[in-house]
Amino acid sequence: MSQPRLIAPSILSADFTQLGQEVREVVNQGADWVHVDVMDGQFVPNITMGPLVVQWLHPMARAPLDCHLMIVSPETYIPDFIQAGAASISFHAEATPHIHRTLQLIRQAKVRAGVALNPSTPLDVLEYVLDDLDFVLIMTVNPGFGGQTFIPATVSKVRKLRQWLDQTGHGDVLIEVDGGINPETGALMSEAGANIFVAGSAIFSGSDRAAKIHGIRSAILERQTLRP
Ligand code: DX5
Ligand code: ZN
Repeated sequence: MSQPRLIAPSILSADFTQLGQEVREVVNQGADWVHVDVMDGQFVPNITMGPLVVQWLHPMARAPLDCHLMIVSPETYIPDFIQAGAASISFHAEATPHIHRTLQLIRQAKVRAGVALNPSTPLDVLEYVLDDLDFVLIMTVNPGFGGQTFIPATVSKVRKLRQWLDQTGHGDVLIEVDGGINPETGALMSEAGANIFVAGSAIFSGSDRAAKIHGIRSAILERQTLRP
């Protein structure tokens, strides 16, 4: 059985002066989801965008909007992102003491719910919420900026998570990887069992986005692990 392999361009690396056009272009060229990086200047040392941007993109994006909240107290803003049309929402385990409650808040609105983990955060924090999440976002760089270098130690983290999910009857939970993803690192992560590949600079830098999406897709499909 093969699990999905999806590509989610991160608009953090897009040209913000023509965001709508940039989103339309990557979706026409094969993006499966559109990844929206939300930063508050507190959880991470950078500030980006909020629910209004999601609200504007929603009617024209023609692909699910995947909102990655790198903000403190995510539960305060989640209702706004749901209202704005988010298809999936992830928040950081390090940003709230209420992981279970926050997952419920997202899921009760029929929106896909995910927990994001920084590179140094162990997988154990997920142990008692495995039934309550749709996906896990494994950060493969430290959150805050696009264009950083992939951290190799995260490959074994994803492999361990995939095995743990499969062995505990949670094989349907998807693993998203985010940061420094390109055809090479994407292939390593696909082999380790990741399903959703966020790529910012690898897709938006330069011009031929179709070729870049295609390059990542062929690399991840070639190396995907087929599981029983
Ligand atoms: C980093 C963000 C990422 C980032 C990825 O905090 O969560 O989504 O945009 O950018 P690249 O692919 O350039 O590392
Ligand atoms: Zn992200």
